[in-house]
Amino acid sequence: MNWQEVKKVAKEKLKPYCRVCPVCNGVVCAGEVPGMGGVGTGSSFKANIEALNRYKLNLSTIHEVRQPDTTFKLFNETLSIPVMAAPITGSTYNMGGAITEEVYCEEVISGSLMAGTIGWTGDGADPLMYGSGIEAIKKNNGKGIPIIKPRAQDEIIRRIKLAEEAGAIAVGVDIDGAGLITMALKGQPVSPKSPKELEELVKSTSLPFILKGIMTLREAKIAYEIGAKAIVVSNHGGRILDHTPGVAEVLPEIADSLKGKLTIIADGGVRSGVDVLKMLALGAEAVLIGRPVVVAVFGNGREGLKLYFNNIKNELSQTMLLTGVSSVMNVPRDILRG
Ligand SMILES: Cc1cc2nc3c(=O)[nH]c(=O)nc-3n(C[C@H](O)[C@H](O)[C@H](O)COP(=O)(O)O)c2cc1C
Repeated sequence: MNWQEVKKVAKEKLKPYCRVCPVCNGVVCAGEVPGMGGVGTGSSFKANIEALNRYKLNLSTIHEVRQPDTTFKLFNETLSIPVMAAPITGSTYNMGGAITEEVYCEEVISGSLMAGTIGWTGDGADPLMYGSGIEAIKKNNGKGIPIIKPRAQDEIIRRIKLAEEAGAIAVGVDIDGAGLITMALKGQPVSPKSPKELEELVKSTSLPFILKGIMTLREAKIAYEIGAKAIVVSNHGGRILDHTPGVAEVLPEIADSLKGKLTIIADGGVRSGVDVLKMLALGAEAVLIGRPVVVAVFGNGREGLKLYFNNIKNELSQTMLLTGVSSVMNVPRDILRG
């Protein structure tokens, strides 16, 4: 199947939750949470896209670059591209349930590995959600990263142990899930955490700890101070709080202060190899992609995801060639104009 065919199948299977628009930008699905959209007016999802679109690339073809290197090292893993599958849960209430939570996780983890990269899995009110991710990671020799909701401390630590037993590469908390009413309604309250509480989580494990959902320099500094090995600069794809800035807007100030101290990953609105390179130029070392991964997996399972990531890799290489970037490990900001 080619990408157009994958999208066609996904469109049928995701009806009416996701229309698989020509550009996945949060306009048509605004307010659809549960669903695939952004919360409220949808402005935070749209801001992610708009922030990236504001930057333009300086075309450059007088240089020595011939074969751009897209490989990236995350902790001890060498990945073919600095792009990974974002944690996504709620197959039934967000995506219509044509694929079960278990199958979704399995396809994301396997498809990512087939493309030479890593899949992340999430957590939610139904135990099936975290459990499905852990099972898929276990089945694939630990090659995956589970992200836990900011639950009660003992509940998080219990899930961190499951990640360790599965042999996961790293583990983390999506701290921006702190206000999710759906979790409280199902008797599993989530909340913001103090730096001390986060430090306790970091110290409870020998796995690298990731804090996902950082949108300010102040909180990025706290993440570093409490010993997080990586942050994900993210507004959760605009699904948590209306009227946040776009990720590409806040990323440079965070990266300029903290790059080299911890791994900086970013997500939100990344749709192409061009977008990947823009995020890297703004200071991310790697990115996650969310909704298009859902389309790839609903369209053709792990093969669909492999195809999607391979397309991203080709676009990224081509964009590097045409902006004079030899390696994703060193992307100068001045390839951008804007
Ligand atoms: C349907 C849906 C479910 C999600 N579930 C989770 C989750 O369980 N845990 C988490 O950390 N992030 C979750 N996210 C956020 C993604 O990991 C990611 O931050 C976001 O989708 C990136 O934006 P993009 O979709 O525009 O690429 C979810 C996003 C969507 C669209």
